[in-house]
Amino acid sequence: MGVAHFNRSRKRIEPNVVFLFIFIALGLSSLSCAARLPPASRQKLQVRKHLKRLNKTPVKSIQSPDGDIIDCVHISYQPAFDHPFLKDHKIQMRPNFHPEGLYDKNKVNIKRENTINQLWHVNGMCPEDTIPIRRTKEEDVLRASSIKRYGKKKHTSFAMSRNIPKSADPDLANESGHQHAIAYVEGNKFYGAKATMNVWEPKIQQPNEFSLSQIWILGGSFGEDLNSIEAGWQVSPDLYGDNNTRLFTYWTSDAYQATGCYNLLCSGFIQINNNIAMGASISPVSAYRNPQYDISILVWKDQKEGNWWMQFGNGYVLGYWPSFLFSYLADSASMIEWGGEVVNSEPNGQHTSTQMGSGRFPEEGFGKASYFRNIQVVDKENNLRSPKDMGTFTEQSNCYDVQTGSNSDWGHYFYYGGPGKNPNCL
Ligand SMILES: *[C@@H]1O[C@H](CO)[C@@H](O)[C@H](O)[C@H]1NC(C)=O
Ligand SMILES: *[C@@H]1O[C@H](CO)[C@@H](O)[C@H](O)[C@H]1NC(C)=O
Repeated sequence: MGVAHFNRSRKRIEPNVVFLFIFIALGLSSLSCAARLPPASRQKLQVRKHLKRLNKTPVKSIQSPDGDIIDCVHISYQPAFDHPFLKDHKIQMRPNFHPEGLYDKNKVNIKRENTINQLWHVNGMCPEDTIPIRRTKEEDVLRASSIKRYGKKKHTSFAMSRNIPKSADPDLANESGHQHAIAYVEGNKFYGAKATMNVWEPKIQQPNEFSLSQIWILGGSFGEDLNSIEAGWQVSPDLYGDNNTRLFTYWTSDAYQATGCYNLLCSGFIQINNNIAMGASISPVSAYRNPQYDISILVWKDQKEGNWWMQFGNGYVLGYWPSFLFSYLADSASMIEWGGEVVNSEPNGQHTSTQMGSGRFPEEGFGKASYFRNIQVVDKENNLRSPKDMGTFTEQSNCYDVQTGSNSDWGHYFYYGGPGKNPNCL
């Protein structure tokens, strides 16, 4: 921008010469700088370059009370379109099918009262034809183990830990440090899943740990090529720099290795909604013996175009993951999971006290324990159905547990979670 302005204001100078000169000068100075710079500063330069790629020029920016900056970026300049396969992609502004019935155009942007909100909304909204993107800051990237890993899950042994429910070697599940309390269905073709989950702010003992509650849409095996679409809420000090509860998504097509990322931190998900920002804080959250706040998430496959769509709450169709990102999921999902996951880094050789869900065990029930309710799957005919033969899994039920049930109000549901470290979990 600076260069263009310079050219315009001094027309007598040959623009190409100026360009060339600046180019060489910049090139030389950055070269010599990079050579002289200590590794820390060289890293900073790389971080800035990465930030330039990630953060698109906004139409408008909104400061959130939690310190986030939400950039309203024109819908056709979103990160997805950096993907070579999406260069000539025509954005689908609505799915062909919606499992909750005839697709209502107004669904994309309905604003509901008395529902859970995103914190940044108190300071403004994004205009039409833009999407809200949480701006990545320098310190966000610097917290990651490497620039390349920023926005990605640490995949070491992660796929192994997910070798459920038929874990061949039970020790593997504990070793890798990821602990789950989940319900699941498998052995069929699934075209989506839905659930309503209450939202909490679990305590995280170590900044490198996280606690999340989500839906997993899975295809393939828990080997090298697992396909996964994930959506829910999480607390992750490493990723966001605070302990706030945030809406998030994740996708991978190679078991968390080279492809995929959280939110919009890589090219993949195409967002169409201007109200909801991935990775933004959710407010309010539930409190013990106090009002409970829950969110609904629906992920489904548009069987005509093949894309996987996501809806948040009752009205916000957020966007879609294009079919070409996946191998197995290009057809259908073979397993669906709902529930919680924490990282147990075993600080001081003991189990972490990082909480899952509300930090309470399922026995405590409503108003105290965390839950998933009205759990459903989408079938081949594009209908929402109760899951058949829902199983449960947890590595150590003394640390985090799960209990299923069903009734007319909540359909299939379960309570899950726990405190981690306690006299029965050390
Ligand atoms: C995990 O470790 C605990 C304690 O060592 C053990 O009781 C439990 O069976 C293990 N579970 C799995 C699934 O590995
Ligand atoms: C997050 O919570 C932990 C304790 O659970 C606390 O030590 C830490 O300072 C908090 N971090 C921030 C950024 O508030």
